[in-house]
Amino acid sequence: MNRLLAISVPLFMLFAVPVRAEDTLFADMGGQVGIDRIVDASVDNYLADDRIKAIFNESNIDRLRAQFKVQFCQVAGGPCQYKGHDMTIAHKGLHLTNANFNAVVEDLQAAMDKVGLPFATQNRFLARLAPMQHQVVSK
Ligand code: HEM
Repeated sequence: MNRLLAISVPLFMLFAVPVRAEDTLFADMGGQVGIDRIVDASVDNYLADDRIKAIFNESNIDRLRAQFKVQFCQVAGGPCQYKGHDMTIAHKGLHLTNANFNAVVEDLQAAMDKVGLPFATQNRFLARLAPMQHQVVSK
């Protein structure tokens, strides 16, 4: 038993600890409370943005806010598991363009400015969303 512990503890530390310790983005964004504020401010911006607001006409906005909150938490490295549709399926019928994508990023940046998130932290989060562009844009 002692020999087993002697082997398993260092292995656990080798694989689990460094990854968690370096991923401070969730905390740097203010935890779930900070992320909820960012999501609410950004969704408000989308719905007020003449370039993209019509795209949300058929959607359940309360559900969308809730899904964003879980997904952003997970993307930031927080203790959440997003269980909604994958990004290709969720946006398939919307025929989104790069211009739509850029508008969403601008509105999200404005929301992060509004809640006072430092520019460097904003960029760390945006860098994690960037790889999703090709899944979301289909036109
Ligand atoms: C990296 C960029 C994006 C991310 C991470 C993202 C994330 C999400 C998530 C998590 C959902 C919920 C999926 C579900 O309910 O299972 C969703 C749905 C949706 N997204 Fe996005 N999205 C992005 C870009 C965009 C853009 C550019 C637009 C349009 C301007 C957009 C419009 C929508 C709409 C209208 C829905 C709801 C679809 C429905 O009602 O079924 N998204 N998105």
